[in-house]
Amino acid sequence: MKFQGSDNYVATRDLMLAVNAAITLQRPLLVKGEPGTGKTMLAEEVAQSLGLPLLQWHIKSTTKAQQGLYEYDAVSRLRDSQLKDVDGGERVKDIQNYIIKGVLWQAFTADQPVALLIDEIDKADIEFPNDLLREIDRMEFYCYETRELIRAKHRPVVFITSNNEKELPDAFLRRCFFHYIKFPDAETMKSIVAVHFPGLKQELLTAAMKTFYDVRNLPGLKKKPSTSELLDWLKLLVAEDIPLEALQSKEDKVAVPPLVGALLKNEQDVTLFEKLVFMQRNNR
Ligand SMILES: Nc1ncnc2c1ncn2[C@@H]1O[C@H](COP(=O)(O)OP(=O)(O)OP(=O)(O)O)[C@@H](O)[C@H]1O
Ligand SMILES: [Mg+2]
Repeated sequence: MKFQGSDNYVATRDLMLAVNAAITLQRPLLVKGEPGTGKTMLAEEVAQSLGLPLLQWHIKSTTKAQQGLYEYDAVSRLRDSQLKDVDGGERVKDIQNYIIKGVLWQAFTADQPVALLIDEIDKADIEFPNDLLREIDRMEFYCYETRELIRAKHRPVVFITSNNEKELPDAFLRRCFFHYIKFPDAETMKSIVAVHFPGLKQELLTAAMKTFYDVRNLPGLKKKPSTSELLDWLKLLVAEDIPLEALQSKEDKVAVPPLVGALLKNEQDVTLFEKLVFMQRNNR
C-alpha cells in the first residue's frame, strides 16, 4: 500500500512520504496546517487512491470519545419494554439491539481494511485524545453492556486533523506520525489551481496569484486567505468574467481587487488592505 498522489489532489513529496511513513508504522497520521490547506481532503484522496472505504468522524466541541466506540440507547430500550407489542417483546431481550456502533467499532469490525478520518480533533475537550489512547494503540476496546472485546480485524489507516486550537497531550502525540502541511509555494499553488481550473488563462492566473500573495503577505492580517479561498475567488473571477485589467495595478492606479470578500473575511483586514492601497497610491 503506497500513496502516490492523485489526479484531484496535489501532494508534495514531503506529504507523500509522511502518508507512507504512517502506513508503514501503522500509526495515525496527525495532519496540521492552516484552514483550507487540504487536510480533510487528504484523507479522502488517500482512501480513494488506495481503494479503501473511508469512515469519517467529524469532531465537535460536544463530542465524547465514547461516541466513537459505541453508545447504549437505554431510553429506547425502556420505551420498547413498555410497549410490549414491539416484536412481541423479543427485541427488548437482546441488548445488542440497543448498542449504537460508533465509527471505531465499524472500522474495527469491517471485513476489509478501511481508512478512518478523525477530523478536527482539537475541537473536542482536552480529555478527548487521552480517552482514545488505548483504542488507537491496541486497536481494541471492551463493550461492557454486551461483554465483548471489539478488536480490529484489520488495522485501519487513521488520519487525524487539527487546526491547532488546542494543544494535544504528549502521550497522544507519541502514538502518531506528524505532518504539517506548509502553505503551498507559488509553484505548488499553480498545480493546485490547474487541478481545479484546467483551462484557466495564464495571464489571469498570474495576475490573480500576484494579488493573492500580496494580500496574504500583508503584515498584521487577522485571517490570511488560504488555498480554498484562492480557489473560490478564481471561480468568481471566471464566473463574473472579470477582465484582466481589473487585477493588474497600473502605474497610476492601485485598486482593491474585485470580489475581495472571497479572500478577506473580516472588516479590519479589508480596512487594512484599503489603507495600504491608499498609501501606495499616494506614494506614486
Ligand atoms: N493540495 C490540494 N490539491 C487540490 N485541492 C486542494 C489542495 N489543498 C486544498 N485544496 C482545495 O481546498 C479545499 C479545502 O480543503 P480541505 O477542506 O481539505 O481543507 P482543510 O485543511 O481540511 O481545512 P479546515 O481546517 O478548514 O477543515 C478543498 O476542497 C480543495 O478544493
Ligand atoms: Mg478540514
